[in-house]
This record gives sequence, C-alpha cells and structure tokens, in this order.
Amino acid sequence: MKNRGLNTTIVLEKENPQINNPNKYNGEALDHPLISAPNTITKKLYLESYGCQMNFSDSEIVASILNEQGFITTKNFQESDLILLNTCSIREKAEITVRTRLKSFNKLKRKNPKLIIGLLGCMAERMKETLLEEEKLVDLVVGPDAYRDLPNLIQEVEGGQKSVNVLLSREETYADISPVRLDSNGVSGFISIMRGCDNMCSFCVVPFTRGRERSRSPLTIIAEAKELYKNGYKEVTLLGQNVDSYRWNINKKGTVIDPNIPTTNFAQLLAMVAQVGNDMRIRFSTSHPKDMTDEVIHTMNKYENICNYVHLPVQSGSSKILKKMNRGYTKEWYLDRIKSIRNIIPDCAISTDIITGFCDESEEDFNETLNLMKEVKFDFAYMFFYSERPKTLAERKYEDNVPEDTKRARLQKVIDLQRKHATESNEACIGKTVKVLIESTSKKSNLDFSGRNDENCKVVFPKENAVKGTFVNVLIEKCTSATLIGKIV
Ligand code: SAH
Ligand code: SF4
Ligand code: F3S
Repeated sequence: MKNRGLNTTIVLEKENPQINNPNKYNGEALDHPLISAPNTITKKLYLESYGCQMNFSDSEIVASILNEQGFITTKNFQESDLILLNTCSIREKAEITVRTRLKSFNKLKRKNPKLIIGLLGCMAERMKETLLEEEKLVDLVVGPDAYRDLPNLIQEVEGGQKSVNVLLSREETYADISPVRLDSNGVSGFISIMRGCDNMCSFCVVPFTRGRERSRSPLTIIAEAKELYKNGYKEVTLLGQNVDSYRWNINKKGTVIDPNIPTTNFAQLLAMVAQVGNDMRIRFSTSHPKDMTDEVIHTMNKYENICNYVHLPVQSGSSKILKKMNRGYTKEWYLDRIKSIRNIIPDCAISTDIITGFCDESEEDFNETLNLMKEVKFDFAYMFFYSERPKTLAERKYEDNVPEDTKRARLQKVIDLQRKHATESNEACIGKTVKVLIESTSKKSNLDFSGRNDENCKVVFPKENAVKGTFVNVLIEKCTSATLIGKIV
C-alpha cells in the first residue's frame, strides 16, 4: 500500500504561552514519510496535543507505537476511527479546555458508535477513571508511562470494554522508540532526555502526573540526535522538567552504579550532542536555578553551536514566597546564577517563568518580583497567575488567599513590564547583523521567511533567494516587542 505520510493537529492552550510557544510550533505542517509503513493501513488516528513541549514529544512516541499497529494520522477528526487527546493539568484552564473538547467529540459518537475516544497525558494520570466512569466522556484513559500498552488497551475497547492504564514507572523512558516527527518544520526537532520530576514545588502538579524523575541513556539520545542530523535537521532541543539533574550511571547521592560504564551529567551530555554536527544548533529546556552549574555554562560557551540562551524560571522575586513554593533557592541565589551566566557568556539571552498571586503573596512580595525583573531584564518571559492544583502541597497546606482580581492585576503589571524590557532588548539589536536559522514562511506574508537567532528571538525578513533550513545573516532594521525585522546581507 502507498505510504500516506502522517499529519497531526496541534492545539495550543491560548492563555498559556509556556505551552503555546509560537517559536516551537510555527512551521508549516509537513508530511513525513512513515518510518515503517505497515502493509495494511486500515485505521485513522486523530491526535490532539496540549501542554508543554514534552507532551508534544510524547505524542510523537504515541504516533510511532500506533503506526506499528496500522494507524495513520489524519487532520480531519470527522473521518477518524480513534481520537486521542494528549492533555495537560498544569493550570485549571488547561483542563477546562479539554473537557469542552471531549464533549464536542462525544457528539460524533451518535453518528459513529464505533468511534473510540481516548484521554492521554497528565490529565489522564490526574483524573484516572473519573472521566470514564462518572462522566462517560471517554473509552480509554492512558497515563504518560503506559503508552506501550496502547495497542492492547485499544483492542480491549474494540472488544466492548472500557480501558485504563495509569501506572507510573520508575524506568520507562521510551528510549528505544523512534518518534514519528509530527507537524515538524523539518528544521528543528525535540529530544526528551528524561521524564518525571522529583522536585515537589508546592504549586506544581507535574510530580503527580509524570511520576519520579528518570534519565534516558546517553547513547540513545545521541543516536536520535544523529538521526535528526542525517535527516537534515539544523536544531535540536533537549527536553526535561529539570535538565540540570540529568544523570546517567550515577545515583542521587553521587555513587557510581556500574564502574564499567562512564557516568554522564548534563554538561557532558550537552557536549556530546554538540559534537554530532557543528552546523546543528543545540538548545535545552528547562534549567532549574537550584541545580544549574557553572560547568553547564562553560560547556555552552565552549561549543559555538550551543545557543546562547537559557530558560531559567524564577517564579517569584521574594525569598519568602520562593521558600513557600519549595523552589530550593533564594532571590540572592537566583541573582548569583544570572551573574555567572553573564560573566561567562556576556551576550547570553535569558528567559523566565513568573507566577503572580501565590498563597500569602503580599504587595511587598509582589514588588520584589517587579524589582527582580528590573534588575535582570529578561529577554522573554512566560507569565501566569497562580492556579491551585489538587494534591499539591500548596493545595493541602496553604490557603489560596490572594483574590483573583489581585492575581490578574499583578499579572498584568508583570506583562507590561516584561513587554517594556523585551522591546528595549530588541531595540538594542537594530543596526546589528544576526545569524538566523530559517524555519518557515512567515505567517503574515508569503514573501517573508521567519526564523530565530541564537538568542531565540524571532526574526522576519524578505525571502530573496534564501532556502528554508539554512543559516543566513540578517541586518536588523526595526522591531516589535516580540520580533526583529530586517533583510539578508
Ligand atoms: N519544570 C519547569 C516548569 C514546568 S511547568 C520548572 O521547574 O521551571 C511550567 C510553568 O508553569 C512553571 O514554571 C510555572 O511558572 C507555571 N506553573 C506551574 N504550576 C502552576 C500553577 N499551579 N499555577 C500557575 N502557574 C503554574
Ligand atoms: Fe513542577 Fe517544580 Fe518539577 Fe518544574 S521543577 S516540573 S515547577 S515540581
Ligand atoms: Fe502540562 Fe503535564 Fe507538561 S501538566 S505542562 S503536559 S508535564
């Protein structure tokens, strides 16, 4: 049978820029050949992804597993046999969006009773059977560590049962599964280097939905990076909730597990990936202020192709609030990390995440956040107001006592200040020439290309004779708070 290629639909949660980073999925959806085309393609899968980049990366694993079972993906849910929603629980709003979507998909079932609707990802893990048994909105519930079981679970549903597997694992990393690159621009790819999180920040649901932290073998990571390079990719982003705690063959206490194989920390892994191809850019996300070492910053500095860009979420500028958030650092510690980055790599771009209105946040605490922003002048920020999440330490122990309108008003102040800083930082680029990796045609004009510079800022310029997936030098002539605009020189 003819190889049909794959498609998927990526749905982004509007309120949440962290999970809706236009830089990450701004390419045209490309059809990619199936890695192993099954002989009898009979079923169609419609897969929608929400949440962070790791969830999108997981969808590529799911597509790969189901591809082996004869599923091809479709962009049209009306013609699908199986609808899967890979979901996020980070804020309440993310879950509300998915519920609404499930209700609308359920209407299709009246016309097509054989249609299977499944819930994957963090919301599946958090809610377990609830959406299946109480609300009867889904046939299938599968947590982030149980995707290998999908073929069996789907078979059970086809046999007339409802199916659930939300077991979390201490080992699963899907290391051996070659992801099917979905909605990729063919230029930048993502590699998950670890799963789960052991940090227990008091506001965060991730440790409950993704389980314990575990790292993936460096050999399989390098193999995946080589595969991307071979296929013409020019940028890879290494993904983990806290990449600085990546470790292989060494336990948490620092004891070597097997003396016959080398140990690998994050800085070493970064160096290994950087050596795959010196014309392939390397990025990584997310760094954690309590764990980011100078060794990582020196490694970034040593390899030309590791981008001068660090995403270092601060959350709050008040040490009192940081303690309550259980972040493991103070304001002073955070500022010291910033100092180190700027000492070692003076032109390094730095972005962050900020939460306003966490439990007990006073006007004074909030002002400390604004002051820290003024001191650091972040190039970019993802900003949210606090949303209480079930089971977290904050939900169990603290009162969600900042009124919603105060949370929102503070968020607006943070957004306004950040916009001012981003504009200033972009204005400083005017007149400079920057190296840009061309990612796609600009959304606003067919005549323009869009790409990013080393510092992860979006750059738009007339296409001329340039080619997607190559590097060009662009002279910056003007800017907005989010985009640099120029021409190829
Ligand atoms: N592992 C990353 C963050 C993952 S979640 C880190 O530790 O930095 C992405 C961002 O969502 C967080 O940095 C935080 O700013 C935000 N977030 C997480 N839980 C939240 C909640 N309950 N309410 C509002 N924002 C939240
Ligand atoms: Fe959540 Fe904290 Fe882990 Fe980030 S480090 S995923 S905020 S618990
Ligand atoms: Fe959301 Fe789960 Fe990622 S809660 S942010 S999809 S790890």
